[in-house]
Amino acid sequence: MTTSYDPEAIAAATLDATRHNLFIGGIWQPAANGASFAVNNPATNMPIAMVPDGGATETTAAVEAAAQALPEWAATPAPARAAVLRRAAALMLERQETLATIMTLEQGKPLSEARGEIAYAASFLTWFAGEAERIYGMTIPATQAHKRLLVLRQPVGICALITPWNFPSAMITRKLGPALAAGCTVVVKPAEQTPLSALELAHIFQAAGLPPGCFNLITCQNPDAFADVIFNDERVRKVSFTGSTEVGKLLIRASATTIKRLSLELGGNAPFIVFADADLDAAVQGAIASKFRNTGQTCVCANRIFVAQAIYAAFAERFSAAVAALPVGNGLAPTTAIGPLIDAQARAKVERHISDALEHGAELLTGGGPAHEAGAGHFWQPTVLSAAHGAMLIAREETFGPVAPLIPFYDEASVLHQANATPYGLAAYVYTRDLARVWRVAEGLEYGIIGINDPIPSTAQAPFGGLKQSGFGREGGPSGIHEYLEEKYVSLGLE
Ligand code: SIN
Repeated sequence: MTTSYDPEAIAAATLDATRHNLFIGGIWQPAANGASFAVNNPATNMPIAMVPDGGATETTAAVEAAAQALPEWAATPAPARAAVLRRAAALMLERQETLATIMTLEQGKPLSEARGEIAYAASFLTWFAGEAERIYGMTIPATQAHKRLLVLRQPVGICALITPWNFPSAMITRKLGPALAAGCTVVVKPAEQTPLSALELAHIFQAAGLPPGCFNLITCQNPDAFADVIFNDERVRKVSFTGSTEVGKLLIRASATTIKRLSLELGGNAPFIVFADADLDAAVQGAIASKFRNTGQTCVCANRIFVAQAIYAAFAERFSAAVAALPVGNGLAPTTAIGPLIDAQARAKVERHISDALEHGAELLTGGGPAHEAGAGHFWQPTVLSAAHGAMLIAREETFGPVAPLIPFYDEASVLHQANATPYGLAAYVYTRDLARVWRVAEGLEYGIIGINDPIPSTAQAPFGGLKQSGFGREGGPSGIHEYLEEKYVSLGLE
């Protein structure tokens, strides 16, 4: 394949093997036994870097380093903690182009989306720098005249942050920002597919002046040894995880041993509902933005697109024509809108969902197969299926790929019922111009995040998190920092 850019030359010019080590107690180091594993570029299916394969020894050392750093960081005045976060955010933005290129190389998303993610990731640091300065306590009027009732807010302690591959920077800073702002110290384990962006973040925090041991980073291929140490060590007070509901359930069980606080941002099955009174062009563009962001690999991507029967044919025609025009390719190419899927397993799931839907009566409007012409990676044609229904796998499970099933509906009550008929409750989208309906559906949808005429509601200022089996806890927004704070009640007798 000929390209106007050369992925190998870009990788050689951007990646620096000397930056790829474990970061423990402020010291960059290899795994004690020298083990390492390869990071692949999902667009070429070729290795681009080797990173250390940390295990129990390194994780234990990281917890020890976090424990040593904790008293001083927790006692550091909030404005000083905030200043470190602001410096780190500024350094991220200064290095935006390099960080975005590294992200595209290891994750595959189009460079324009990677640039956007770096800005999004930095915004969590800025937002939580502000929140650090607003960790207010409380006084409560007592019933007895000689008593004063106080509420203090203090850092939870050492936190383990386990992050996914689909947003290699932002899902770290959305946890790391509030943890450090609150005065906690952390041990981070990034996804094995995307450790390079995490390593760059650790370099940035070191350059921003974060004291050694506050941010420790363990890259590893198999999470079991890491999880074993984390869940059995009493000093680790909290675990924050973004990933599948299946793994979330395992972590809930594991957390029982030492009763850890958990924040879990798990799977979704987002409905995207287009009512007959919607602005059709905006709904088509919104559905594309929500469904095909990051090649359909976000927890909040539209998974089921419900369209009112009265506008179904018009929507299906415009939507499938626009989807068919989305360019698939290496994320480094400036024209690419759809990058590769992360791996063969992801592609197999997409394939399974499409064949199940076709077997159960769906009609293929565009796409439907691998996009081999885009390269050796796991590329898939952006796909639209018509006449989908709730019994299909594609409507029951999160596809996490570039496939949009259209489901016709007849009335508001039935679409609300169908939208809520899932164990998941992360994000939902509604397109309508009827204000009374806006209130009814916003109140009726059992979801933690609702975008009304807004396909991308995520932002650092707003709470992000799910209901039901999509998890618990909120990241971002004014409540985000409370996930990392303990509330301590003090009763003060004055006699
Ligand atoms: C996710 O996929 O979990 C994150 C998406 C977002 O922050 O919008």
